[in-house]
Amino acid sequence: MGPIGIFDSGYGGLTILNDIRTALPQYDYIYLGDNARTPYGTRSFEVVYQYTLECVEKLFSMGCHLVILACNTASAKALRTIQQNDLPRIDASRRVLGVIRPTVEILPTLSSTKHVGILATPGTVQSESYPIEIHKIDPSIEVHAVACPMWVPLIENNEHLSEGAAYFVQKNINELMQLDPQIDSIILGCTHYPLLIPVIQRYLMPSIRIISQGTIVAASLKDYLTRHPEMEQKCRKGGGCIYFTTESPGKFNTSATLFLNQRIEALHLEL
Ligand code: DGL
Repeated sequence: MGPIGIFDSGYGGLTILNDIRTALPQYDYIYLGDNARTPYGTRSFEVVYQYTLECVEKLFSMGCHLVILACNTASAKALRTIQQNDLPRIDASRRVLGVIRPTVEILPTLSSTKHVGILATPGTVQSESYPIEIHKIDPSIEVHAVACPMWVPLIENNEHLSEGAAYFVQKNINELMQLDPQIDSIILGCTHYPLLIPVIQRYLMPSIRIISQGTIVAASLKDYLTRHPEMEQKCRKGGGCIYFTTESPGKFNTSATLFLNQRIEALHLEL
């Protein structure tokens, strides 16, 4: 048995971890943030894949049988290749799951106009993973996406509630709504963005639904573990979480408080 691994390029996955631990408090978790190499959102397909694979292999070597890529960019650019090419070579009984598929699976029940917007990092938007996955479920849904390159740096610098952040949020929201004024649901396709929800709400009509991923991914993982008892039995129960960062733990501990609303003591991990 081993802990469930939760991977992100940095801090954003902590928003997902929070909701997963609320829904499934009984398991042990390892969180790994690749803060030394963040951001992933502006990097090439090859680099995101290489970095993500290294981190997944590290989590496997620490005893994880199941790893969640709690990062949209990694889910968009690395998940499929890892599932199809690397897992059979490394250990076919281990599993890596992402955050895009669970998010789009619930879309048809949420959007009544069938016009959906995506706000994400440049890497996730360029990958077109969201429109591809959404159209597998319902080809009639209209999808428009806008990249928000400034949002992650604003959050990581604790400037997300400043007037500077409001300027960029309004700019990107306006871009999206001008592309398609019929949008009634917007997916926040980046794990950092839930911290901007109070600012985003200022520039959207209240009737437009903002879809953030944490609770959706948590519900999907719960369902997955129910449907896969062979994996559930390999997930250690203890209710703990150990945090690792590839950067210095001091900075991670301070910034993690923003995402978790609690103090943590992370450990440094050399890849
Ligand atoms: N965690 C990443 C995501 O969800 C955003 C941060 C980054 O660019 O590394 O796309």
